[in-house]
Amino acid sequence: MDIHKIMSGYTPGMENILNILHDLQDAHPMNYLPEHTLREVARYLNTTLSSVYGVIGYYTMLSTKPRARHIIRVCQSPVCHLMGTNTVVEALRKHLGVGLNEPTPDGLFWVELSECTGTCEVAPAIMIDREIYGDLSENAIGNIISMIREKSGKVKKEAGH
Ligand code: FES
Repeated sequence: MDIHKIMSGYTPGMENILNILHDLQDAHPMNYLPEHTLREVARYLNTTLSSVYGVIGYYTMLSTKPRARHIIRVCQSPVCHLMGTNTVVEALRKHLGVGLNEPTPDGLFWVELSECTGTCEVAPAIMIDREIYGDLSENAIGNIISMIREKSGKVKKEAGH
């Protein structure tokens, strides 16, 4: 990924740090912010590396550890919890073969818990990257995972040609 190209889409002010960090994280195939990237961000914004880490510390959606191409966030807040957070986590475990906070062997998925995503009316809900999926059943989860796997396969093939 071209770090400088992404950053240059924003003026170099601290008011843009969150947008810059989100865009850089989204562009990384392992969905995280390596230290060398953060050094470039600090330089671009004319601030210190520790200030950049300070911002990241406030936002659970930002990670300094490698994860996977797609991040699945399972809402664990009260409404979803009542409607079946545990069932969703179990269904994901069944379809992906991994539990929370570990990547699938193909590097495609990472599952983590999150707070309310503001879509309680379709609880239980998950967010995959920036997309919300609600009213989930085990079958629905299987279909969503298959659809994303299929899309990723197509993108890989297209990139190979
Ligand atoms: S409680 Fe899960 S989306 Fe609000």
